[in-house]
Amino acid sequence: MLSTIDLKVSKLQKELGLELQQHSSFEHTESFHEACQSWVNADTTLFVGDNLIYLKELALMSPEIVDMCYIDPPYNTGSKFLYEDNRKSEVRGMFGTHSAWMSFMLPRLVAAREILKETGIISISIDDYEQAYLKILMDRIFGEDNFIGSIVVCRSKNGKGSKKNLATNHEYLLIYGKSKQAGLRGQSDETDYNKQDEFGQYRVDGLFRKKGEASLRTDRPNMFYPLYFNPNSGKVSIEAIKGWKAVYPIDSKGVERRWLWGVDTAEKRAWQLYASKNGVIYVKNYAGNDKAEKRTKVRTLWNDTNFYTEKGTNEIKSLFGSKIFDTPKPLEYIKKIIDVCSDSNAVILDFFAGSGTTAQAVADLNGTDEGTRRCLLMESDCEIPPNHTAQESGFKLISDITEERLKLIKRETDSFNAKVVRPNTGLPLQMLTDIGDNIYSVS
Ligand SMILES: C[S@@+](CC[C@H](N)C(=O)[O-])C[C@H]1O[C@@H](n2cnc3c(N)ncnc32)[C@H](O)[C@@H]1O
Repeated sequence: MLSTIDLKVSKLQKELGLELQQHSSFEHTESFHEACQSWVNADTTLFVGDNLIYLKELALMSPEIVDMCYIDPPYNTGSKFLYEDNRKSEVRGMFGTHSAWMSFMLPRLVAAREILKETGIISISIDDYEQAYLKILMDRIFGEDNFIGSIVVCRSKNGKGSKKNLATNHEYLLIYGKSKQAGLRGQSDETDYNKQDEFGQYRVDGLFRKKGEASLRTDRPNMFYPLYFNPNSGKVSIEAIKGWKAVYPIDSKGVERRWLWGVDTAEKRAWQLYASKNGVIYVKNYAGNDKAEKRTKVRTLWNDTNFYTEKGTNEIKSLFGSKIFDTPKPLEYIKKIIDVCSDSNAVILDFFAGSGTTAQAVADLNGTDEGTRRCLLMESDCEIPPNHTAQESGFKLISDITEERLKLIKRETDSFNAKVVRPNTGLPLQMLTDIGDNIYSVS
């Protein structure tokens, strides 16, 4: 019998004219159900095998458990990576050769949506090759109204040389909410509060003269009045004071505008105003008591050298001794995504886990802010191709790399507890104590 997920997927496949996919015939046994619930007691749970099996199981048996999902799917570059990255359709429908990749992504995104809480967020890394096709899928599955935005992320200084006219050095992060209830936590406000008075630390970045709509003197005549300022101290008063200079809300083109507040408010809150030496009046922006928690809107251009591709590669080399994974994301980049999208007690899902950067990012963030984030990873158990550095380093399956990353985290943080769920191993439910506390597999 087809599940509700299968029905939703079939409907969307027909509407989008995508190739029909075989629905998985995986048998969901009692011990499989039990293993899939085991994430509740672990900091990180790694589900080994095709993510679709687990996504469907979680979507059907425990929907709405995840606060934030981050994925970094295969970009379909056609490159020879240790994982399959060449899904091009032979039958060219509405989306040309891209429909095979879309057909692969569709059921996974439909199931992931069910696992997200109503307040949940999903953010997806992608580059130009599939960005437009991913956007279409996401608009259909999550709804155009739930598109929060797209962030452009700089990945290197000089870019890749594979194109004729351009050296691409950016990619995207597409962000959707599950519903209108979803919102970003925001980015931490790192602006320097470089001034100090008896009321606390502050910065001056907001003009007291109104700009834009309804900013003219004629719009609010009673908000056009003189202020008096001391060019040495920056203090402002509504009363004339000997030696202080008068200033009116007149802009650089000589247009008479108005102040932000009426004269009564300005009298009560004159301590909050600051004058530059040449008489530009600002409203002081105080850091507040809880400066660490002050957050601002997330900017849509991320240009941080810590997010460069080579950072991720160097991290893998220093963790594993060589480049055993082709496309790892840099740790700081994933930490930022998690931080801006979710709270410190979030349940986080990454169903294209690769080298396990997301698990490391979650563990690091918890270590920094004493958070209680939990992490669900999924990674394929496909064999690593012969002659790949990872195979030469002793890894057999791709998921072995993810698992090794969990062991490395465990080595750094003794209290870290992780589980690994493997289907079809033929083994009974068992503890594998050599990996670390609570790591087990299930048949
Ligand atoms: C671009 S990589 C992710 C890299 C990761 N963000 C990191 O920092 O290492 C995509 C990963 O998805 C995995 N993958 C692809 N198809 C999968 C599937 N059906 N089920 C589980 N994992 C899959 C690949 O094996 C690969 O490791």
